[in-house]
Amino acid sequence: MQSKQSIHGSWGSRWVFILAATGSAVGLGNIWKFPYITGENGGGAFVLVYLFCILLVGIPIMMGEILVGRRARQSPINAMRETAAEAGLNQNWSLVGWIGVLAGYIIFSFYSVVAGWVMHYIAGMGTGQFVDIGSEEAGQRFNELLASPEQMLMWHTLFVLMVVGVVAGGVNKGLERATKIMMPALFLLLLVLLGYSVNSGSFGEGWDFLFSFNPEALTWDSVLVALGHAFFTLSLGMGAIMAYGSYMGKKDSIGMTVLTIGALDTLVALVAGLAIFPVVFANQMDPGAGPGLMFITLPVAFGQMPGGQVFGFLFFLLVGVAAWTSAISLLEPATAWIVERFGLKRLPAAGLLGVVVWLMGIASLLSFNYWEDIKLMGMGIFDFLDFITANIMLPLSGLMIALYSGWMLHQKITRDELALKSNLAYNSWLLAIRFIAPVAVLIIFVVNLYDKLA
Ligand code: PFF
Ligand code: NA
Repeated sequence: MQSKQSIHGSWGSRWVFILAATGSAVGLGNIWKFPYITGENGGGAFVLVYLFCILLVGIPIMMGEILVGRRARQSPINAMRETAAEAGLNQNWSLVGWIGVLAGYIIFSFYSVVAGWVMHYIAGMGTGQFVDIGSEEAGQRFNELLASPEQMLMWHTLFVLMVVGVVAGGVNKGLERATKIMMPALFLLLLVLLGYSVNSGSFGEGWDFLFSFNPEALTWDSVLVALGHAFFTLSLGMGAIMAYGSYMGKKDSIGMTVLTIGALDTLVALVAGLAIFPVVFANQMDPGAGPGLMFITLPVAFGQMPGGQVFGFLFFLLVGVAAWTSAISLLEPATAWIVERFGLKRLPAAGLLGVVVWLMGIASLLSFNYWEDIKLMGMGIFDFLDFITANIMLPLSGLMIALYSGWMLHQKITRDELALKSNLAYNSWLLAIRFIAPVAVLIIFVVNLYDKLA
């Protein structure tokens, strides 16, 4: 098993893997979701809890996922099965792979709808449609988009095609090539936008909002949101990182790589917050505006600022690129599995999956208009899917992966695969993956369930 190669190919270098995994991690979660949930949960204290979740739960679990993927060099479903076989464990552990692939699928379906909105805004900004509009009008525009299944369907379709196009190219000619072009572009755009925000927004106010500690705003609910978001933002619990890990070089250090990916993802989220909140405050708008923060508040702000036209366009371009590289990683695990299981070529495998996920996305986008009245647990279809994936499926499958890699796999396997330089590092990982991560996930789960039922 040691010198095994993946039939799908492998990354050209350690940095390609880091960039690809960062491309998966950095997405709508960082630029759209993180700022608005931070706004809704009161700022500083939430950010602190979130950082703890990343460090103590996210990073160790990411190491667990990658080690399983690289050990077996197969799609998550088969990787779980094969490592279980190697360790003499029950074959049903492959179910964890299934939950992951399913969660990834569901996420793709609504992720693509939001990515579609982003593309609509790229076009709108690029053609000057937001110059000097007021917040009422901006809200109205956004609602018009949501009320139009045709518009949303068009963008959703285009986005699915863009993702299938890359995934169909395979690990090297598709994923790796896209990574090498898009990730440098992403970092460049982010820097430009940060510079703009520092110079033209209320930077100090934005900074204080993100980093001043105000514990009153913190509730159990916000802790659950922070934990769920730590999984979502690092692409954990759905096989994406496990699949990418299966194409990783045998000699590359998992620990250093994961720390880099986690740091970059966190950095982008914070920089996105620092790019957005100053602009929000400079225009006396509400940081707690919710999901509309990026689509309503920002266009108004940009529309009133000098150079806002160009920077607004660049901003949404950045979001679009980030969403694209993330969605690629949502489709990859299932595609790899179909190729392994049925011996299909990449194109038909990715195409087939693309059609199914496209259809599922339609249910999400209809929940904003024709199917508005359909409620599941009091939520519309879109919100419901977001809720069950981010707050239930991801923590659950993350918990299973923690238990699996911490308790079930022999330490000989994990030690060998992680190849950490010091015992201290390995023991810290073991402590986090065996106790801290599972206990944190469990407590928050139980408390929240109790909250919901009581
Ligand atoms: N990590 C991505 C984000 O923060 O937007 C979302 C995501 C991508 C989640 C891929 C899961 C995944 F497999
Ligand atoms: Na992210």
